Amino acid sequence: MRPLRVALAGCGAVGSAFVEQVADWNRRRRGRGALEVVTVLVRDPSRRRRGIDRRSITDDVGAFLAAPAEVVVEAVGGLDPALRIARHALASGRPWVTANKAVVARHGAALATEARRVGVEIGFEAAVGAGIPVVATLRQALAHDEVVALRGILNGTTNFLLTALERGAAWDDALAEARRRGFAEADPSRDLQGLDAADKLRILAWLAFGVDPASLEVDVVPVSRAGAAGAVMRQVAEVRRDSSGIRGCVGPVEVPRDSALGRTTDEGNLIEIDTVGAGRIRLSGPGAGGRATASALLGDVVAGLGLAAGRGP
Ligand code: HSE
Repeated sequence: MRPLRVALAGCGAVGSAFVEQVADWNRRRRGRGALEVVTVLVRDPSRRRRGIDRRSITDDVGAFLAAPAEVVVEAVGGLDPALRIARHALASGRPWVTANKAVVARHGAALATEARRVGVEIGFEAAVGAGIPVVATLRQALAHDEVVALRGILNGTTNFLLTALERGAAWDDALAEARRRGFAEADPSRDLQGLDAADKLRILAWLAFGVDPASLEVDVVPVSRAGAAGAVMRQVAEVRRDSSGIRGCVGPVEVPRDSALGRTTDEGNLIEIDTVGAGRIRLSGPGAGGRATASALLGDVVAGLGLAAGRGP
């Protein structure tokens, strides 16, 4: 059986880790359900990239979209050309898998409607909490349950920064390290201002409460250098349903050191989901970084193409 072809947009920390994990997947699967990354959209096609045939690399969005592939994976970030790629993937009847929280938060509802119309899967596990399976938990495992509230830490960069400050690091050094490790957005002010976490909160609110993610109002307060000295601060995101509707907020909060939030350090993320039936569910793990995010992309590719993982029943 020939490999299933993957079109990959973006080859930064996430895209390059995805290419490595596809190679690992192929080795482990010994040919059954093998994947081949046949085209890679990049900004600078002159750079050499490990594990990718030069002839597969393009900076031409039209050529990328026209290349034959069974699934389209997007890890470029931002709205353009990401949204164009999403719409084209669905219009051509191909599953679309993304790490792009901005696109899902603003256009997820319309894209999901289009995907249902054409009968293909969309996967956006990688858009929230990197490899933490919070999207699958809400979309599948808790789909029957009533969610009352959802809170947690949804941004790895600010968490890395805040915990580095607790250990005595300087703000600029810690932020530079978060960027070097591939956690921060291209524009890190989106992390610090809470806009990245707000997009992720909108996506989770969509899955938890059925609200259009684009219409959810989220109050954001930026993380600043002027945190309480010696205090354990975390950028906390929360959404809950009460008698006045569904409200979201993101901002710095002082938390007890010995709490689930206080114990979430470095690029860790934590999501607490309060449900009527199952009680409080807590999911945690690395919430940013190439490897963790690529793992979620590959999981959605495997699911979107109907390839069984081959473990368990
Ligand atoms: N900039 C994001 C973060 C990347 O730090 O959480 C993962 O979405």
